[in-house]
Amino acid sequence: MLKKNNKLKLIKYYNLINHNLIYNNKAINRYKKNNFQISENKFKSLELLKKSITDLKNCDLKKNAKNMVFSDGNPKSKIMLIGEAPGANEDQEGLPFVGRAGMLLDKMLAAINLDRKKVYISNIVNYRPPENRRPTNEEIEKYLPYIIKHIEIINPKILILLGSTAMNALIGNDIVISKMRGKWIEKKFGSCNTSVIITFHPAFLMRQPAQKKMAWIDLKMVRDKKNNLNI
Ligand code: URA
Repeated sequence: MLKKNNKLKLIKYYNLINHNLIYNNKAINRYKKNNFQISENKFKSLELLKKSITDLKNCDLKKNAKNMVFSDGNPKSKIMLIGEAPGANEDQEGLPFVGRAGMLLDKMLAAINLDRKKVYISNIVNYRPPENRRPTNEEIEKYLPYIIKHIEIINPKILILLGSTAMNALIGNDIVISKMRGKWIEKKFGSCNTSVIITFHPAFLMRQPAQKKMAWIDLKMVRDKKNNLNI
C-alpha cells in the first residue's frame, strides 16, 4: 500500500504529464487521401478545392459529364503531371488517365522508374468534354484558377505538362509544343515555385509513334532532374 504522502506525489506526477496523449490510440494529425497519409492542412485544402469545383455553377461540361475527375496518385509527391481533360473511361471511373492514353502514360512513367504511387496526376479541366473534343478557351479559363490552386496545394518541384492544351493554359498561348518541349522553365503558380517541362501528350504519341523518341528525351530529363533534386 502506498503511503498517503507518496500517493499525493504520484497524483501530482500524473497531473504533470499528459496521460491522454500517452494512452490515446487515435492517430495524431494523420489524414488519408488516395491511401496516402498527408498533413491536415493539405487534406483540408484538397477537400475544399474539390468542393469548389463540385459547386461550380453554369458549366456545360459538368452537366454533360458523369463524374468529376479530380486527381490520382500521391498528394505528397514532388512530381505532378497535368493532362488536358478526362475522356470516356476517366469520366466513367472518376480518375485521370485510366484509358488507352493512361496505359501509355504508365509505361512512360515506368521507363524512368516512376508509377502512380510516386507521382500526382490531374487535368486542366475536371469534366469530360462531349465527344472528347478539346476544351474551349472559355472552359479552360473557367477551370484555370482551380488547376493553379491545385498546383499550389501539391507544391511539386517538377511539373510535367502533357500536351499543348496544358502548355497553352499554364505557360502561354503564343507558343508551339514542338519548340517548347524538352526545356526546363522555372515558373511560379501561386506560392509554388517549380521547374516545368512540357512533353507530348500520350494520346498524340499513339497517333504519331515516331515522336516517342522525343518524349523519351524529355523523360530522361525528368529522371536526371529528379536525381539532382534528390526526389
Ligand atoms: N487525356 C487527358 O488529357 N487526361 C486524361 O485524364 C485522359 C486522357
